Parts: sequence; C-alpha cells; structure tokens
Amino acid sequence: MTVAKAAQSAPQGARQFPKDFFWGASTAAYQIEGAYDTDGRGMTIWDKFTADGKIMDGSSAKVACDHYHRYPEDIALMKAAGFNAYRFSLAWPRIIPAGTGAINAKGLDFYDRLVDKILEAGIKPMACLYHWDLPQPLEDKGGWQGRDIVGPFAEYARIATKRLGDRVKDWYMLNEPNVVAIIGYGIGEHAPGYKLGEDGILKALHHQNLAQGTALRAIRAEHSDAVLGTVINLQPCRSQDDDPKNRAAAIRWDAVWNRVPLDGVMRGAIPDVLAEKMAHIVKPGDMETIKFPIDMLGINYYSRMTMKHEEGHPFDVFWGDAHCDRWTAMAWPVQPDGLYDLLREFKELYGNPAVFIAENGAAYDDVVTPDGQVHDAERVAFIRDHVSEVARAVKDGCNVKGYLVWSLLDNFEWAYGLSKRFGIVRVDYETLKRTPKDSYKWFAEVIRTGRVG
Ligand code: NOJ
Repeated sequence: MTVAKAAQSAPQGARQFPKDFFWGASTAAYQIEGAYDTDGRGMTIWDKFTADGKIMDGSSAKVACDHYHRYPEDIALMKAAGFNAYRFSLAWPRIIPAGTGAINAKGLDFYDRLVDKILEAGIKPMACLYHWDLPQPLEDKGGWQGRDIVGPFAEYARIATKRLGDRVKDWYMLNEPNVVAIIGYGIGEHAPGYKLGEDGILKALHHQNLAQGTALRAIRAEHSDAVLGTVINLQPCRSQDDDPKNRAAAIRWDAVWNRVPLDGVMRGAIPDVLAEKMAHIVKPGDMETIKFPIDMLGINYYSRMTMKHEEGHPFDVFWGDAHCDRWTAMAWPVQPDGLYDLLREFKELYGNPAVFIAENGAAYDDVVTPDGQVHDAERVAFIRDHVSEVARAVKDGCNVKGYLVWSLLDNFEWAYGLSKRFGIVRVDYETLKRTPKDSYKWFAEVIRTGRVG
C-alpha cells in the first residue's frame, strides 16, 4: 500500500492538533550511539549481557547506528521532518565511567556538541538520564537491588544538569523502570539478567523510585527553571476474560507494572495489594522522598496488557489472550484505543497534569524494494491510528502536550538485537546508510499540517 492509500483509509475524520503541540522522536543512547569504547566510555550491564551471548540474533550495540559519529546527519533528518522536540538519553558510563567517582570530560563534551546541534536545528532537547545502560561497576555492587545506588544516581544527575542545564531545560529521570525491574531483575530476559522473582522486582522498582526522587530534588535545588519529569510505560491491564481469578491477576499486574512507578511519584503511595510484600523494602521517609511535583510525565504506549492467573510466574500472572487481529513483528497486539483509554483514565485519576507521548511506534519486517525504498504501510497505519487516538484524547480535554515516535532510526532492540526495526528511518547496518521510510515522509506531513486522518 502506498503512503497516500494508507492515509486515505484512516478510520476517523481529520483532526487538528494545537499549534504549540510538540512533535518528534525518542531514542536511547545504548540503542543508537555505538562507539562503545570510544573516548573513555565505561562498560555497562548491556555490554556484559551481550558479551555473555544473551542477544537473540547474536548482534551487539558496539556500533549500532554509530550515532556517536553521525549525529549531525541524524539531526538533519529530524530538522527536515519538521521536528520541534527530540528525546534522547545520556549514557551514564560516558559521563562517569565507573558510575561513581571520576568524571569523563570527553563524555560530557559529546553531549555538549549533541545538544548544540539539536538547538541549532531549532529542536527542543529533552534529555533522559537513565535508559537502562547502568555502569557495570555499580551492578557489581548490587545495582538496583540495593539502596547504595541512590547517591551515585543523584550525583550523576547533578553533574549532567550542571553541564547541560543552561541549554537543556527538559529533564526526564528514568525510562520504563518497570521493564528494568521485571525483565532485568525479575525474569532475566534483559540485563543484568537475574531471575530474582517478586522480591527482586519490588526492590528494583522501589530503589529506582527512590533514586529518582532524590535526583529530582537535587536538580530542582539548582535549576528552578527546569521542566522535570520521568517516563513510564503505562499500559492498561485487562483480564483476558471474566474469570475472577484472571481479573484479580490483572489487578495485581496493574499494581506492579503501572502503580508502583506512577503512584510513587504522583502520590507517594504504594498500591494496597503490594503493601505487605514491600514492607521490608520501604524505609521510613522513603515515600516522602519519592513523591515529587513533576512538571510533565512522559508516557510510553505500545499496547494494552491482557493478563491471566497462572502460577509459576511472578505474582502468579502471565500473558492472556489479547483477542486482537493486528500484531506487530514483536508479536504485540495493535490496540490504538488503549492509548485513548489510558489518557482518559490518567486525566480522571490524577487530576489531568501535563503529559506527552514519549514513545509510540512499531517494529515490522520492512522490505527494501528494488528502488531502495521502504514502503512501510503497516507502520504508517500504526502511527496514524495512535496519533488519531491522541487527537481524540486532546479533544476530550486530556492535557497532552506532544507526541514522539519510537523511533527515529532502526536501532538495537535490546534482547532482540538488530533484528527488530522500529525506525521511521532505515539503517543499513553494513553501510550505516540512512533511508527515510514512507512513515518518515507521512509523519513529516502530519507535523507540517498539524493534522492527522
Ligand atoms: C520501550 C523502550 O523504552 C525502548 O528502549 C524500546 O526499544 C521500545 N520500548 C521498543 O521495545
């Protein structure tokens, strides 16, 4: 299907976005930068996980998109698409190679150059401090399982904002702390690869919350004009059917996945269903530190979560049948209306604070046609349907300020390696050539007109 045809079959009428809406993409340092041992960068848990042979296609992020060297070209692509915002992450191990202690000037210099280039292109830089690339020496001391990480994270936050805070106003602490906790420490499919189950998950969640609250306070103390927030992948959790056991499982999963991160920062609260299991982890004063009046919440959305009761998994919950007829190459269901539901629910339950879509996008098995192009009609339809739901939510009063697609470039998709492509720009990993896909051109048009559908 051509771009024009995909756009014609939009399910809803055209919708106009507010003039000041921000548009762009999100990326993460580990997934695009490459240059893994350049200019004094320290090693991360993902370097070890990769070296240990845990990546499905055997690839690594040693080069990835080589964004470290090619960032001017990538920023030019953003500019040409009309982006006015860009969320990227800083690699902690570039700035403080051992996670704590000596600062690596060359690492900070890189982000200096990057930020200047982004600003030169007229794009608002939105920096995320932690997108999963924990310095390995900190993991060796217990990583997110212990409280000792709180001080080093806050110190890293202070150093990064001190250097870049004159130009970067928008700071996001963590990205998807639930994935770090559940997939990294609970079931071991992400670095650092531990299968610690429920207790490991809850510890990693709580210590991320605590580190985040401490860092937010440290930054606020020195940058009163900063826009501060964090990024959580809120996913409505539904039971696969009406069976009361499955319904209870969905509630438990919602508590672990959504509420610990969200209610922590927004309300300083722990969900009732987890109170007992977290009692030995939470110390007096923690929840006061964790609660913080953020200026903006970044929401990542990919799909709903359809769950069922099944013993043998953390919290006795496992994936249920999503009853869906559209799937991405990640085998994730395509459920754009779930994004509307969550924005509405968030508005109603949390008093409608400012949010933006910090990630939304899809992997598909792209094909390069003989003319060298990628006609990714399914990705166009995916983004169109989700942007339409955002428009509907805005129309219904949800305080959504922007939409960032995941992602600008095909990149290193964690345990899947280079095999899953999420970019609106294709990256040829042999030549590192960038080719804008149809979705890039379509998205540029949405940005130009401020309209979808
Ligand atoms: C969310 C994560 O933040 C990002 O790193 C990842 O690549 C996408 N989801 C797709 O899985």
